Amino acid sequence: MAYQTVRGTYDILNDDYLKFRYVNDLFEHFMKLYGYDFIKTPVIEDTRVFKKDNDTSDMVTKEMFTFSINGKDSLTLRPEGTAGVIRSYIQHKLYGAEAPVKLAYIEEMFRYERPQKGRQRQFTQLGVEVLGDKAPLLDAEVIAMGYYFLKTLGIKDMEVHVNTLGDSTSRQRYLEALKAYFRPYSDLLCTDCKQRLEKNPLRILDCKIDRDQPFMSAVPAIYDYLDEEADNYFKKVLSYLDALEIPYVIDSRMVRGLDYYTDTVFEVVSTALGANSQSTIFGGGRYDDLVSELGGPAVSGIGFAIGEERLIGAMEEAGLFGDLKGHPDVYIIDLTEGDPYVLKVAELLRNNSFSTLINYYKRSLRAQFKSVDRHEPYLTFIIGEDEVQNKVVNIKDNKTKEQTTVAFDDLIDHLDNILGGNEDE
Ligand code: HAM
Repeated sequence: MAYQTVRGTYDILNDDYLKFRYVNDLFEHFMKLYGYDFIKTPVIEDTRVFKKDNDTSDMVTKEMFTFSINGKDSLTLRPEGTAGVIRSYIQHKLYGAEAPVKLAYIEEMFRYERPQKGRQRQFTQLGVEVLGDKAPLLDAEVIAMGYYFLKTLGIKDMEVHVNTLGDSTSRQRYLEALKAYFRPYSDLLCTDCKQRLEKNPLRILDCKIDRDQPFMSAVPAIYDYLDEEADNYFKKVLSYLDALEIPYVIDSRMVRGLDYYTDTVFEVVSTALGANSQSTIFGGGRYDDLVSELGGPAVSGIGFAIGEERLIGAMEEAGLFGDLKGHPDVYIIDLTEGDPYVLKVAELLRNNSFSTLINYYKRSLRAQFKSVDRHEPYLTFIIGEDEVQNKVVNIKDNKTKEQTTVAFDDLIDHLDNILGGNEDE
């Protein structure tokens, strides 16, 4: 039996690879515009980087690929990027530098989820983390950066959802209010939510099973429990989004799927991908306590992660990818059965940045012309025994159909003249 990819994982082939590269290139460009440095952390981490004793998120409690090789150390394939970046920030004392430290990453994540469209067991995140500063202006800039990134890629049908989870005193009051509200309905809650009720009732707001229960419509919103500081903070963030004319929806039920968030949280949903949880292209928020919980200084952070496969899905849906492959500059038809002169010509071209394909083994002229048709080069070179003897090349311009003979030493000048403008295509 031929082997297959493991469930929930996919090969990225041909033009699909170019789609990732296209998106990554723009992300790297954006990171430069906003002053971020890139970071790469290991795929495997000590499980404790992700898991705390009192975790309630599905990601940590049900979806981690955790294993042990020697029966002692518990290791986990990273399910998300934030915790590993913070581990690195603490380990290398990056907090010693001027705040904020702004880090970006493009990395694979692993979650043991039920695979479906837009939900994979291995997927890629384009993420950012800003560590060491807390200010509404920064929160707004992070949201705006993600929004403008999607907009620049051409995504139109999207909604920005924002909410606040308050600071720790506000949130404590709110959690008590939620417990009091849900207790009378505890018999109606799903098995998981019965446990969430006392441990972290915020998670009930996020529950896919209980979402449509009638009592969900009157759940108290956090805004009535915010103290003045947290309330002002959130309003200030919104006022910056208003100033930038970024359209947003205030979503009091959005609590995010991970436990570490405080104050500002946000998600961007693609309305083109339909109304399900797989339509969330990116999510993020502020975390006041995560750095200190992982053993670092008491500094706050904020970040987001874009699901790259979902983003590419939304772009495909909207027809936003043009011809990414482009055409080679030159295809060399070889009638000599592999004379070294052919290779010399090809290397001369490549050394001068002209993309060049050659034929590797004896094939008829007809078969080689078929390859030319398939690759659609700008120029076709034909090299036979005569061309080798005379150190020349026969060149056919596939647009004008003109044919010329050019000496080896004049090739680059000739190509500069006729292909000079093609390099970026
Ligand atoms: P998250 O909401 O768990 O947040 O994931 C961010 C994005 O990753 C999602 O919006 C989605 O697009 C994508 N994603 C998540 N799970 C899957 C999956 N199974 N298959 C395909 N795509 C998926 C985080 O991971 C946080 N670390 C974000 C963050 C950074 N918060 C602060 N800093």
